[in-house]
Amino acid sequence: MYPDHRPRRLRSSPAMRRFVAETHVQPSQLVLPMFIAEGLDEPRPISSMPGVVQHTRESARAVYASAAALGLGGVMLFGVPEHKDATGSGALDPDGILNVALRDARAEVGDDTLVMADLCLDEFTDHGHCGVLDDQGRVDNDATLEIYADMGVVQAESGAHVVGPSGMMDGQVGAIRAALDTAGHDDTVILAYAAKYSSAFYGPFREAVDSSLVGDRKTYQQDPANAREAIREVELDIAEGADIVMVKPALSYLDVIRDVSDAVDVPVAAYNISGEMAMVEAAAAHGWIDRERAIDEIVLSIRRAGADIVLTYWAAEIADRLRH
Ligand code: PBG
Repeated sequence: MYPDHRPRRLRSSPAMRRFVAETHVQPSQLVLPMFIAEGLDEPRPISSMPGVVQHTRESARAVYASAAALGLGGVMLFGVPEHKDATGSGALDPDGILNVALRDARAEVGDDTLVMADLCLDEFTDHGHCGVLDDQGRVDNDATLEIYADMGVVQAESGAHVVGPSGMMDGQVGAIRAALDTAGHDDTVILAYAAKYSSAFYGPFREAVDSSLVGDRKTYQQDPANAREAIREVELDIAEGADIVMVKPALSYLDVIRDVSDAVDVPVAAYNISGEMAMVEAAAAHGWIDRERAIDEIVLSIRRAGADIVLTYWAAEIADRLRH
């Protein structure tokens, strides 16, 4: 007649629920991705990512400072160059937009929060691919590695504490690690986008970086059908010297985050990407979901799946909410 076990007892009040909560989100676990564009007079809103802008160098500075004040884990910078070319040469130019933004960020925050750089060519190439192309228009893995290696060194010299190779070329972590070490940057951390899937949810990001990509990235990013392959990618990256491994996107890949965090003993990050935030913002704008509750639940779910670190466009908002 009466149940012997009453789990509801532990849900009876806010204080009780707080007391038994298994998963917590802290500002230090959150990383804010930011876009810094060349040649803008003022920040430009990204229509498919409400609340997110392409920053000018100046408007970004205030955000670096507030990221540090909020105690965020770091900022992940993406550069949007004015001119793109076949080899993405802007990525290697010390005066290119990403590299000057790294210098600005480091000057602003010092060591108070971590300055991170996306290490990939797609923002810099006129064809929009993550690497250079061979004479048949295919992405040339090994030619790309040489550029990534140089890019890692330029980013470290520009002030990046952490570089984040995201192009899914084979051997990219090893090539970048060797170049960093040779150049004396053995303390620069590699956060490897290790298990990165070819996803429809990157859509809004293409607007954010003015991408000129025609076609897709299916020959280098992972097939959404595969989970075991993520473990292989992660293990290779760790063997090549990755300090932190990342799963991306997050929400359609919570199982992969769980598998990876069970399999490895390095910190695991997950990237709550542009399309994942756009869905929430769009539904909330219609009044169809409670925006703040949805955001908090999403980030909690990514942490619960096993991610130590979450990259999210809502990082500052969440950290601010945690203070009150
Ligand atoms: C590659 C890169 C991408 C994202 C982060 N790094 C785009 C892609 O692989 O197509 C996507 C981030 C997002 O969608 O929020 N430089």
